[in-house]
Amino acid sequence: MPAAAKAMQPATYPIEKIRADFPILSTTVRGKPLVFLDTAASAQKPRAVIDSITKTYESGYANIHRGLYYLSQNATDAFEAAREKIRAFINAKQHEEIILVRGATEGINLVAQTWGRTHLKTGDAVIISAIEHHANIVPWQMLRDEKNIELRIIPVLDNGELDFAAFKTLLTPEVKLLALTQVSNSLGTVVPVADYIAEAKQRGIITLIDGCQAATHMQVDVQQLGTDFYVFSGHKLYGPSGIGVLYGRKALLDQMPPWQGGGEMIKEVRFEKTTYNDAPFRFEAGTPAIEANIGLGAAIDYVTGIGMDAIHAHEAAITAHALEAMSTIPGLHIIAPPDSIYSGARASIVPFIMDGGHASDIGALLDQQGIAIRTGHHCAMPVMERFGVPATARASFGIYTSHGDIDAFAAALHKTAKLLGA
Ligand code: ALA
Repeated sequence: MPAAAKAMQPATYPIEKIRADFPILSTTVRGKPLVFLDTAASAQKPRAVIDSITKTYESGYANIHRGLYYLSQNATDAFEAAREKIRAFINAKQHEEIILVRGATEGINLVAQTWGRTHLKTGDAVIISAIEHHANIVPWQMLRDEKNIELRIIPVLDNGELDFAAFKTLLTPEVKLLALTQVSNSLGTVVPVADYIAEAKQRGIITLIDGCQAATHMQVDVQQLGTDFYVFSGHKLYGPSGIGVLYGRKALLDQMPPWQGGGEMIKEVRFEKTTYNDAPFRFEAGTPAIEANIGLGAAIDYVTGIGMDAIHAHEAAITAHALEAMSTIPGLHIIAPPDSIYSGARASIVPFIMDGGHASDIGALLDQQGIAIRTGHHCAMPVMERFGVPATARASFGIYTSHGDIDAFAAALHKTAKLLGA
């Protein structure tokens, strides 16, 4: 491990114990030990989450909020206990502010279709940034086309950071919403969202932060950030897929109309008129992903047991190691390289290309060596266009990534560079 990365490595981080908690990490791929470097797309699951799902199905499963019998009440209690864990995880003021949805994408669409449709009118503007993934672009475009609003884009600099000065020039009275990522999934840029939120708040602009790639890597405190809405996904946080979280400030949720109609979101249904439930249930129509949500509670227990600050420090050391190792590979180019490896401006996501091959060639050659990375546009086509590439290869790291993984990755990249003739 390079000296600088070593200096950043927390001495007591229990990497071997953590790796042993993830059964998939002891499997082999194409006869080689799996080196999993695609955590940004979806994280692997610890035994605690797998066991939680099995336990729910084996001994604790029934529909929730509907039955007076023992099993249903127990399942309801476990489901609501998970909501409380989520609340505490992001330090929301009250559990009514935690809405359980299918994923971050659904959370953003919910805000666009409820708050957005009610509050935005012709001539209003919404600000997003040039480094959003499609989930934080398309819902606003759909609204733009329906409501005739304007979409303004914060530009990205060559080093992958957003242009704060340019952002300030976009802040005219027409702007009603700022919807911004906290960490870019395609570049790894860490956006200092608190600064952006503060500017927006001064002008009465509502804010939504997409924390898909942030809640997994750093401590999030929605009250300290002062954001109105915050979304993240369960599957990137070592929890099950099909579950995500929308945090919304209670005063705003109380003004928002329902999202989907059905059971749970009502108080009383008559053919003449239906009255709606209060938040959060007003936004949770139908039977939810019961075992997945309880499993997300288990995932939160797991990561908080390690500690978000310890996770952040470990991943910073791993990222520094990877950036240093990658700088020695002939013909490898990091996209939007940060000004300094150690600036903290990058979360554990590193996009790159190599001379002599397309991103998919890199992915295929690494796969032959047991290394799993993502290749393509990463659901962020405008970022590819901005940096003049059709696609990138992307390595991303998580709580279980070891320095041994990075050494194996670097050795495989050297071999790949030779095969590509770089
Ligand atoms: N948004 C996920 C990614 O970055 C799927 O890969």
